[in-house]
Amino acid sequence: MGIEISSYAGAMEALRHPELKQALYDAGMSVMSGALITLHGEDHRQRRVVEFGVFGRGFFRRYERDVFARTLAPLLEPCRAAGGTDLVELGYRVIMNLTADFAGIDRPIRDEEATDRLLGLVKTFSEGATLVHSTRAHAEVNGEVGAAMKRFDEVFFQPSKARRHALVDDVAAGRAGEEDLPRDVLTTLLRNTHRVALPEPVLRREIAFFLQAGAHSTANATTHSMHEIFTWLARRPSGARERLLDRPALLQRCVHESLRLHPASPVAWRKATADLQVDGKKVAAGERVTINLRAANRDPGVFGEDAERFDPERELPQNVWPFGLTFGYGTHACLGRDLDGGVTPKADAKPSSYQLGVVTLFVQALLRAGAAPIPDDPPSADANTLRSNWGRYPISLTPEETS
Ligand code: HEM
Repeated sequence: MGIEISSYAGAMEALRHPELKQALYDAGMSVMSGALITLHGEDHRQRRVVEFGVFGRGFFRRYERDVFARTLAPLLEPCRAAGGTDLVELGYRVIMNLTADFAGIDRPIRDEEATDRLLGLVKTFSEGATLVHSTRAHAEVNGEVGAAMKRFDEVFFQPSKARRHALVDDVAAGRAGEEDLPRDVLTTLLRNTHRVALPEPVLRREIAFFLQAGAHSTANATTHSMHEIFTWLARRPSGARERLLDRPALLQRCVHESLRLHPASPVAWRKATADLQVDGKKVAAGERVTINLRAANRDPGVFGEDAERFDPERELPQNVWPFGLTFGYGTHACLGRDLDGGVTPKADAKPSSYQLGVVTLFVQALLRAGAAPIPDDPPSADANTLRSNWGRYPISLTPEETS
């Protein structure tokens, strides 16, 4: 039942249609109920405006420059010393710290055990949220989600909330200044209860949603980008890696091109709240509209006859994002887009002013560390999902140079 949209223009029209409501997470409500991405209309607008306060461009720039490097170095160094790692695992660890900062979940940054525990919980949440693409028994996954939410509450959520509550009270009483408050979603929601009051279970699910929305998609984007770049470099003359590293804007285009070919979710689903027409097709109230983001991002009318091919130097029509609709568009457009994807630099911008985005920075650091696939130990796909994700991606790394 329902219609499918595969063209770029049709997908954009559907994604901004006010009478098409989010439907992708209907099967994943045990972890998603009440989370921003599931809301519609005024409820969605109000919450999004409040949470948007956390995501400012100036903030992303500072985060990229100061925080990301400090997060990455202690995690990458041991992998270099060991001569290699699993890219999927490293990606999750790095990104987990990043999304936890945004969501507002505390953990000692160098404590690998805390990161891995959080990661385990977030992977379970992700599986619950994208249940619609899971190949496992749904009841079994939902049981695991319930247990994970309980552990998340005890170990991470309650302590993080209590610390922020105390800080918010201190600021209100004049014992501390605004600058003492962390800038994250949890703090923002605790400070704005007069605008958006969330019952405790909803607040907990909202923070769990932020953790998994950012972690899963960013980790997968990094692995896909590295795979595309490895394949692209292998077909080029020697020295191509060094030349690519000398051109950060081209490296960012590689990441954007990979994001276009591998959207985190291959489809967006919407449900019609009234009889309507979209992409020239009639849809009855209650019917589902499947927006095929993967197909829209490969629309030959927009990206050319060779749209299926990875080509970071492809010419793009005006006003088309190089990453296509991978970060969505319209009402539910991704709040983490500029953080992960960065901002496309103007032709005359100085490299020192670039905002490359976290995925490009991560890829840059890996390439500088000599990352390469291991011919005797090839990567394999994740068998637990119908999404085209890598489950394991062994890479070799060169040790840190000491001078
Ligand atoms: C490569 C990485 C990412 C990709 C590909 C991605 C993709 C998407 C897409 C396609 C949507 C819209 C879904 C729809 O229309 O149904 C979305 C929404 C969202 N994303 Fe991302 N995302 C990424 C990273 C992040 C990060 C790092 C964060 C936060 C730190 C984040 C936070 C959100 C939020 C909060 C929404 C919901 C917005 C709303 O419903 O109003 N995402 N993302």
